[in-house]
Amino acid sequence: MTRTLRFAAIGLGQRIAAVLRAVKQTGAHFALAGYVDPAPVGSSILGENGIALGRRFEDERELLAAGPYDLLLIGSPNHLHAAQLAAALDDGRSPIFVEKPIVRTEAESYALAARLRETTTPLFVGLVMRSAPIVREVLRTVDSGELGEIVSIDATEHLPPDHGAYLARNWRRKSEWGGSFLLDKVCHDFDILDAVAGARAARVASFGGRGSFRADRARGHDRAAYRAWPGGWAAQDDPFSSDPDVTDTQTAIVEYENGVKLAFHASSHSALRERRWYIAGTEGTLIADIDRNKLMWRHATDPGAPVRATFPLNAIDHNGADVAMAGDLIAALAKRAAFPVTATQALEAGLTVMAIDKAMGSGQIVDCSEMWRTFDQARG
Ligand SMILES: NC(=O)c1ccc[n+]([C@@H]2O[C@H](COP(=O)([O-])OP(=O)(O)OC[C@H]3O[C@@H](n4cnc5c(N)ncnc54)[C@H](O)[C@@H]3O)[C@@H](O)[C@H]2O)c1
Repeated sequence: MTRTLRFAAIGLGQRIAAVLRAVKQTGAHFALAGYVDPAPVGSSILGENGIALGRRFEDERELLAAGPYDLLLIGSPNHLHAAQLAAALDDGRSPIFVEKPIVRTEAESYALAARLRETTTPLFVGLVMRSAPIVREVLRTVDSGELGEIVSIDATEHLPPDHGAYLARNWRRKSEWGGSFLLDKVCHDFDILDAVAGARAARVASFGGRGSFRADRARGHDRAAYRAWPGGWAAQDDPFSSDPDVTDTQTAIVEYENGVKLAFHASSHSALRERRWYIAGTEGTLIADIDRNKLMWRHATDPGAPVRATFPLNAIDHNGADVAMAGDLIAALAKRAAFPVTATQALEAGLTVMAIDKAMGSGQIVDCSEMWRTFDQARG
């Protein structure tokens, strides 16, 4: 009989509820001993999945004092991660799972990098794509050398209107809460694309703005699709007049330190959704269609059919990645395997996106060398 793990949560929203649902689906036994959240948005998902909320604590200090826990999950809006992580690391008695983006600003990234030098507390970051079977296969193919040296990458993320409206309605619409469209939504992709490139970004440029969710383009104002997703914390009803200050459309180009070139295009009101990576190497090319969960690749001089792989589709759990990540989390807690992404990689992905946003804001190409020097100094 396996022991029932004792969990606690700071920020019990839709995402942590989905993570707990996925942990339950792995067959792991756990109980939520307590939580801090003024109005837990995830309670209905937990109820539907037979997971009791546990005791409500007034603040992190009270919750941490009632520890240690087998796992402390942090799933608040992004602007709260840094302070809540700091409190959890100061307590230091419980392994921590924090949702992406690990922190929201460059200054928070340096401070956390320095803080991590002094801790041995396990810290897992919810960059769930790292656990997705298709992404593992992409990284395995790149690492196997089948594609040769990576030369260039073309990547997209085009969200359907219901998802875009959700971002435009809830706390992600404000940079003070979410950071930015790219930081909140595609830090996942930049984590993987950095790994595919095999280097850090050297120079970046970006253009972006609000192309769809604005008052003068509210053609579909009253259509139910725009309110199909529950809003979450600090949400508004109307995505076209919610006064956002983040982009809903953005492009970026990146040159990596090893010369790999990347072009990226994201939007959030797409009638033809797409999340696709086109990876060109000296020996072969790979296309991964992350939405349709299939990939193909072929050697440059091979006239035969491409190697193809198809993975199961499952809309509610990132095509199986949530349960896979939950399994990775349980294995890491039991020290059976390393978690597939490190806190340092999560910080690097966040900083790459922050440099892209800085380039968009300034209208200049941003040279990332000073950023990485500061980061490495902080890491010691
Ligand atoms: N890995 C993924 O695929 C993925 C998907 C969605 C969200 N996320 C991340 O998960 C986190 C939460 O997003 P969400 O979609 O669950 O948002 P949400 O709005 O559904 O939930 C946020 C929760 O935080 C609570 N909260 C607000 N202030 C708080 C405070 N001071 N202390 C404690 N709790 C507080 C809210 O009441 C709410 O219950 C974010 O960091 C987001 O980027 C990750």
